[in-house]
Amino acid sequence: MKSILGIGNALTDILAVLPDDTLLKKFHLPLGSMQHVDMETGDRIWEELKHYGVKYVPGGSAANTITCTAIFGMESAFVGKIGNDDLGNLFKSTMEQYGVKAQMLYSRKSSGRCMVFITGANAERTFADYMGATLELGPEDLDASFFEGYDYFHIEGYLVQNQELISKAARLAKAAGCIISIDMASYNVVESNDAFFHNLVENYVDIVFANESEAKAFTKMEPSDAIDELARHCSIAVVKVGKAGSMVKSGDEYYFIEPWPANPIDATGAGDTYAAGFLYAHSLGMPLLVCGQIGSIIAAKVVEVIGTKIDIPRWREAKDEIRALIAANSNDPLPPLN
Ligand SMILES: Nc1ncnc2c1ncn2[C@@H]1O[C@H](COP(=O)(O)OP(=O)(O)OP(=O)(O)O)[C@@H](O)[C@H]1O
Ligand SMILES: [Mg+2]
Repeated sequence: MKSILGIGNALTDILAVLPDDTLLKKFHLPLGSMQHVDMETGDRIWEELKHYGVKYVPGGSAANTITCTAIFGMESAFVGKIGNDDLGNLFKSTMEQYGVKAQMLYSRKSSGRCMVFITGANAERTFADYMGATLELGPEDLDASFFEGYDYFHIEGYLVQNQELISKAARLAKAAGCIISIDMASYNVVESNDAFFHNLVENYVDIVFANESEAKAFTKMEPSDAIDELARHCSIAVVKVGKAGSMVKSGDEYYFIEPWPANPIDATGAGDTYAAGFLYAHSLGMPLLVCGQIGSIIAAKVVEVIGTKIDIPRWREAKDEIRALIAANSNDPLPPLN
């Protein structure tokens, strides 16, 4: 089985169901907004939320993808930065529980977190993000030894805001012979790092994952043209169009992939798990179409649950469906799916 290393923000979601909007008012958070807060405010909010029976869900885009590849059975590792605190320990130990080698770096700042206030009859969500230690991850933290022996290196697009970090990571990954993939993460990150993103994709990245708005930000084109344009600059381009499915292209080979059937309730994590399924299938040497189909199968499971963690029955179902698909496309014995 091939191996994968991911780099991303080590963020933990802290979810609290609140009886009313008193805390929102106290911290000047408009209902439904998403705000960045400083360390002092971030720590004060967390202290207050602890009284309400909060739920902790370690996440972040690449961390979610890497957790998923670990469950598929790939040797999976993650590089990210945390504080020397309870939340950082929780992040690391949760990754390890899933079998991920958590290559954590430590900052003096406290661990990054996304605090979610859930209020009112409609469970309205208000967000206060404190990035903290995650933003301290810098090029000086990276060492060539991190990359040695990994077949794949997956980059979370949010990190491209730190261009020196990603330049060094991409250089070291390439020198180590990794296949490099990137999830573009967000259209505004793509827009505000336009030239850098183009250079990165052109010269380092093998596999690009973009949703509709990210593909548009990169190419200034609508999805059906954007996929052609993206594929001119990398080996494999993937453009995801939510519940409409996805498009994959490599050279002249192109497929539109219908979404896998699902009863969606929450789309969070669809893109991260799609990438994991795609990369896992790619690592088994599956054809392009099958890589996209396996991404779609696993993404269809995560949209059926709230949050980013697929439950065990759905994992079983996904593995059965994936096993059948792989068997139909392979002359080898069944792959070692756990
Ligand atoms: N309602 C749905 N039913 C089935 N599959 C879905 C649904 N929504 C999304 N998917 C699958 O998930 C894939 C990725 O979703 P999407 O296009 O929303 O990516 P994204 O915008 O990167 O997601 P994220 O918000 O997680 O970053 C889609 O290409 C599709 O295969
Ligand atoms: Mg996405």
